[in-house]
Amino acid sequence: MNRAYWDAQAARWDAEIFDSLAEDRTGVIRRALRRAARAHDAVLDFGCGVGGYLPFLARSFARVHGVDWSARCVAAARRRAAALPNVTVERSTPRALARLAGGFGCVVAANVVIHPAQRVRERLWGGLRRAVRRGGTAIVVVPSLESAAFCESVRRRTAPRRASSYDFHPGMRRLEAGVVAIEGVPTKHYVHDELSAALTLAGFRPFRVSRVRYSWTTENLTPPRRLHAGLPWDWLAEARAV
Ligand SMILES: C[S@@+](CC[C@H](N)C(=O)[O-])C[C@H]1O[C@@H](n2cnc3c(N)ncnc32)[C@H](O)[C@@H]1O
Repeated sequence: MNRAYWDAQAARWDAEIFDSLAEDRTGVIRRALRRAARAHDAVLDFGCGVGGYLPFLARSFARVHGVDWSARCVAAARRRAAALPNVTVERSTPRALARLAGGFGCVVAANVVIHPAQRVRERLWGGLRRAVRRGGTAIVVVPSLESAAFCESVRRRTAPRRASSYDFHPGMRRLEAGVVAIEGVPTKHYVHDELSAALTLAGFRPFRVSRVRYSWTTENLTPPRRLHAGLPWDWLAEARAV
């Protein structure tokens, strides 16, 4: 899941990369972003990918800046933002991040802090904290380990012959807590309290953690209707920079 991996994904994004904003069944992400936009003018979309969040952010905030370490993602995000006058996008080089530090009241990171290596994730948490000014808001979406375990148990009970989406990557020699391979790609998943702890250690005070609910079809499952009250989910954290 390095920069070359994300460069390669840029060309086949819609087929490969999950769109949390579009799939959010209850609109919890949009509500969190609107709340933040009422308090802050400028938002940084950290790890903006090909820019899926940019149009909504452009409608909600006065000024939007997207950064991503993948040049191909940045090129695609710039094309998407071409008609959005309040949006700019650039590569997240160390120099760019130093220049942008403290310049935003809000930072958004949707499924960005998901690298399997802890030291890479720690750098990212630090980058998010430096981007936002004190008192600012972080809005973070990450995969839920509880949801992965729940979906796997539902698959085993209701569709045991269907191949699982989840596995441990064959190349992984050490089982690091919470790293689950999705379609073969090792991806960090978080339990609820761990997400709060990671934000706290990075210099944020989490004030709300919610579930972003997705339909069962996103898991390639069609469980019986009586299980439809519980849907797969990501964690969404809202946190204040302290
Ligand atoms: C799953 S995609 C999510 C993209 C976008 N936030 C969305 O939800 O549509 C993760 C993105 O994070 C970017 N990314 C991962 N690590 C990064 C880093 N250290 N610095 C900047 N971008 C990073 C990747 O290039 C990729 O575009």
